[in-house]
Amino acid sequence: MNAIAQNKSITDTIQYVGVDDKEIRLFESQYIVPNGVSYNSYVILDDKNVVMDSVDLRAEKEWFANLETVLGEKEPDYIVVSHVEPDHSGSLQKFMEKYPHTKLVCNAKTLAMLSQFFTMPADMESVIVKEGDELVLGKHTLTFIMAPMVHWPEVMVTYEKTEKVLFSADGFGKFGALDTEEDWACEARRYYFNIVGKYGMQVQALLKKAAALDIRTICPLHGPVLSENLEYYIGKYQIWSSYEPEDEGVLIAIASIHGHTKQAAQKLAELLRSKGVEKVAVADLARDDMAEAIEDAFRYDRLVVAAATYDTGVFPCMDSFLTRLKSKNFQKRTVGIIENGSWAPMAGKVMKERLMEMKEVTILEPVVSIKSALDETSAKQLEELAQALA
Ligand code: FEO
Repeated sequence: MNAIAQNKSITDTIQYVGVDDKEIRLFESQYIVPNGVSYNSYVILDDKNVVMDSVDLRAEKEWFANLETVLGEKEPDYIVVSHVEPDHSGSLQKFMEKYPHTKLVCNAKTLAMLSQFFTMPADMESVIVKEGDELVLGKHTLTFIMAPMVHWPEVMVTYEKTEKVLFSADGFGKFGALDTEEDWACEARRYYFNIVGKYGMQVQALLKKAAALDIRTICPLHGPVLSENLEYYIGKYQIWSSYEPEDEGVLIAIASIHGHTKQAAQKLAELLRSKGVEKVAVADLARDDMAEAIEDAFRYDRLVVAAATYDTGVFPCMDSFLTRLKSKNFQKRTVGIIENGSWAPMAGKVMKERLMEMKEVTILEPVVSIKSALDETSAKQLEELAQALA
């Protein structure tokens, strides 16, 4: 793999030892990551040296090289495991073999889950922590804060109170390797809604705990370390986790077989723009990145689903889109519907039923019903829907 070691200083005594993975095609076997992803790990140097999380097994060679650069021949005293998902714990077994005297610091759930993934060394020493427990390293003191379901049940974050650093696990993470220059919000939002989006309530609970801390730096497990303008990032997380729209705008999500549904959807986009809607995003669910369509559905306050009928239901990519929206707790949005059906249109009925299962979704009238291609009647309905959406 083309992993890139990224050793650098966060502060004089906190070093980044994570790895950029530019070769991975699908993160979690489903999310395209055109600019790769970083597996972040940190070392705190003090009387007791601590490694904060390991990395994906794909990056273990580079990670061990980074650890050696920072620690030299020294064996770390502790390794803190915030999250068991293998993109962070994958190299842990090899770490334990290399550093057999390092104590594992984690909560009880983490220990149980790790033993499902690995054969833990019988003589391994561990420090089991719970909410509010502290670990004094010398000048630094770590406080452990449980963050269940941000993103797995065992997740915890760690606050270091001397340098005011929050090690935030998956929270505030982002797709994209660290050597990529790109907008934070775009890839952080796609990451958030697709990976953590279901757990808004749990993210809110963590934000409440974090509000009581004086935080100067956020060190996530993916993406850049955040050290300036923290209210911007925390503000984004407040909006995202409350499921409130971030921007006024419309996403038109299209599931078209031969292009006629797509033509109607594009016509709707033109109508909306002509009526002054500034942000109109269009996603071809059969061809575009589904994760980006999910991101935009949450970003904007209005959504239009436009789909062909298929096998007396809805065309499969729309089925998949609606399934994902439901599983990510899509809510509090206004939705328009366009269906197409050449002989027995069903897509509208199916999409409406699926949307009505979601919380606080308002469905606009009329449902535009196309028979094969836009005609005078359906074009009039489309104009009425544009009027209702604008
Ligand atoms: Fe980055 Fe949930 O693991």
